[in-house]
Amino acid sequence: MSVLEIRNLHAVVEDAEILKGVNLTLRSGEIHALMGPNGSGKSTLAYVIAGHPHYEVTEGDILIDGESLLDMEADERTRAGVFLAFQYPVAVPGVSVANFLRTAVSNVRGYTQQAENNGNSPAVIGSNLMPMREFRRELNEKMKEFNVDPSFARRYLNDGFSGGEKKRTEVLQMAMLEPKFAILDESDSGLDIDALRVVSDGINKLATSDRGFLLITHYQRILNYVKPDYVSIFFRGRIVQTGGPEVAHMLEERGYGWVEKEFADEPVTA
Ligand SMILES: Nc1ncnc2c1ncn2[C@@H]1O[C@H](COP(=O)(O)OP(=O)(O)O)[C@@H](O)[C@H]1O
Ligand SMILES: [Mg+2]
Repeated sequence: MSVLEIRNLHAVVEDAEILKGVNLTLRSGEIHALMGPNGSGKSTLAYVIAGHPHYEVTEGDILIDGESLLDMEADERTRAGVFLAFQYPVAVPGVSVANFLRTAVSNVRGYTQQAENNGNSPAVIGSNLMPMREFRRELNEKMKEFNVDPSFARRYLNDGFSGGEKKRTEVLQMAMLEPKFAILDESDSGLDIDALRVVSDGINKLATSDRGFLLITHYQRILNYVKPDYVSIFFRGRIVQTGGPEVAHMLEERGYGWVEKEFADEPVTA
């Protein structure tokens, strides 16, 4: 059992405080949905957890099993078991999906570290990577299991990918990296119904008792396919209410205008 704890998290970007005291505990086996109006700071929270250098944490902490992530570089956070899928994944022309995944998996599983410890230069091609044959076998298995077309492996990462293809690639990444905690930012936005099914099926398959999910979403739609244990409302940089799936249904009915009315006047203190 692992625990991801966000404690009184404050963060600024370009001198503006965007996160104003976020508190959230996510345990293995739980799915927690975070819903909120546009501009409330949901993506900022994802970036801060990932360790994006643009965002400065001014107060609070993020811990995995009691160990702070704040002093870790982004790749160390990945090794610690945190996976993030961003709202706007970048295209990397020239780097195939297979090569990208082999590098990422090698980092997470310690091949890279091992090579460095043995005094191998990372410049020796393949010396710091998971063996090709083994990697290929696993990749093929997972592509089959998660309904990803085999031709994906050779394509350049996110280059000319449709919204649905980007999200399938993220599911494949999660399946390969086997994170303790997966944080998905707007995995449903802009997806047609078939793509939404693929993504939801992938999440449901991966939502095992040893993994926690934080689903960041504006719309209730994906929650028709992935059943959350908890739903929190995020507004102006902090969580203003937490409950069960009924919270998502209530938002669906009453909209975010209600949130604005209900919580706009509350003093922002934490
Ligand atoms: N890199 C940045 N520079 C300046 N302001 C930013 C930056 N990133 C986010 N913001 C601001 O932070 C606020 C929250 O944005 P964001 O986290 O994207 O919200 P959400 O994902 O909930 O729509 C917005 O007002 C946005 O303009
Ligand atoms: Mg966002």
